[in-house]
Amino acid sequence: MKALLRAALICTLPFSTTLSADDHFAQRLQDSREAVQSFARALKGNLQSVLQKKGPAEAVEACSSIAPLIAMTKSKSYSWKISRTSLKLRDPDNAPDTWERAVMEQFEARKTKGEDVSKLEYYEVVEMDGNRMFRYMKAIPTLEKPCLTCHGSNLRPDVAAALDKHFPNDKARGYKAGDIRGAFTIIQPL
Ligand code: HEC
Repeated sequence: MKALLRAALICTLPFSTTLSADDHFAQRLQDSREAVQSFARALKGNLQSVLQKKGPAEAVEACSSIAPLIAMTKSKSYSWKISRTSLKLRDPDNAPDTWERAVMEQFEARKTKGEDVSKLEYYEVVEMDGNRMFRYMKAIPTLEKPCLTCHGSNLRPDVAAALDKHFPNDKARGYKAGDIRGAFTIIQPL
């Protein structure tokens, strides 16, 4: 009862007076999760419509130009850096920095220990070039459909050809459903 009362009290106090350091990051975390969802929705919507209208080989062409554009648009609308990265890259422009690489290696280790890939996330406040930044990452699971069409082992020859043309150093093939394909990554200035 006491706990309930306390919860009710905290909830009715104005935000500005109740925000502790932890609550501050709780809000950042919530906002990061929402931004990732919105980014993922935009990517998925685009991918589905191109796959349906044009088929997977043409979708490779579309993805390679539209996915970076969606990342740029989302980054602008949030005033953060929002992108995707991976330990096995398709697009070299998505290369991870040292912190991102370490977090993805941590995700792989947590997966091995049995954690649910769809729930893997991590955040930390780090200093970058003398500025404090809130950094957030969320693992991207590989789904059978549609991901394996372009990230699996047995690619259609036209899909493989389109990928070879755009990404001569493509490492993002040979995945299985349930693997970690990569991660969403956000950098927010504090
Ligand atoms: C039509 C082919 C196609 C399908 C289907 C597809 N992808 Fe990709 N994927 C690409 C292309 C092309 C890129 C490079 C895009 C870029 O330049 O950012 C890419 C890049 C990525 C990246 C960024 C990291 C990197 O390697 O450059 C991630 C993460 C990713 N895909 C995850 C997925 C997931 C998860 C699915 C299933 C929901 C999926 N992809 C389905 C073609 C595809």
